[in-house]
Amino acid sequence: MTVTIRDASEKDIQEIVEIFNQAVLTRTSTGYLDEVSVQDRKVWFAEHRPEKYPILVAEQNHRIVGWISIDPYRRGRKAFEKTVEVSLFIHQEYKRKGIGSQLINSMMETAKKLGYTTLFAIVLDKNVGSKRLFKKNNFEQWGFLPDVAEIDGNTLSHVYYGTKL
Ligand SMILES: CC(C)(COP(=O)(O)OP(=O)(O)OC[C@H]1O[C@@H](n2cnc3c(N)ncnc32)[C@H](O)[C@@H]1OP(=O)(O)O)[C@@H](O)C(=O)NCCC(=O)NCCS
Repeated sequence: MTVTIRDASEKDIQEIVEIFNQAVLTRTSTGYLDEVSVQDRKVWFAEHRPEKYPILVAEQNHRIVGWISIDPYRRGRKAFEKTVEVSLFIHQEYKRKGIGSQLINSMMETAKKLGYTTLFAIVLDKNVGSKRLFKKNNFEQWGFLPDVAEIDGNTLSHVYYGTKL
């Protein structure tokens, strides 16, 4: 599916939150156990200036169908300044249409232009779709944290995927 990818603007927050909360409700992809509010995400949005930690949205017919963001790794420790964590979320009605892959590729280009050298993602081991998505987009498994999350009485592990830019 062809989408337009652009920097997020403040007016997108409502749709960004709706898509994020769809993922929260699956209980297998975010580690959040409760939905977030638009108010919560305003602070988060303000911390993601396009020239430092961008949020990109995929838009189709004036609707946000997915988004991707990068975040600092070990904030405040200058030695890790060129390494960033990527997270992405696709609207439930638009999955398996190649939008996640397009967003990852756009963010790889954007992050490279911003001077970052390493991009990594953290995925719950149970999140098979996400693991396949990163492998398909040339990320390799770099780490495994066993039984670090507890959701509905089950312990879950974290897998780290990374790529060099
Ligand atoms: C994981 C996620 C981002 C994938 O986005 P997407 O737009 O559906 O991904 P794509 O269409 O680009 O898929 C690319 C490939 O990834 C793999 N893949 C994606 N979703 C999959 C699933 N549910 N099951 C198995 N493989 C999957 C497939 O190999 C797919 O290629 P194919 O469709 O040709 O077989 C989306 O399902 C999502 O938002 N999940 C909830 C949030 C999340 O887990 N985010 C990642 C954590 S940071």
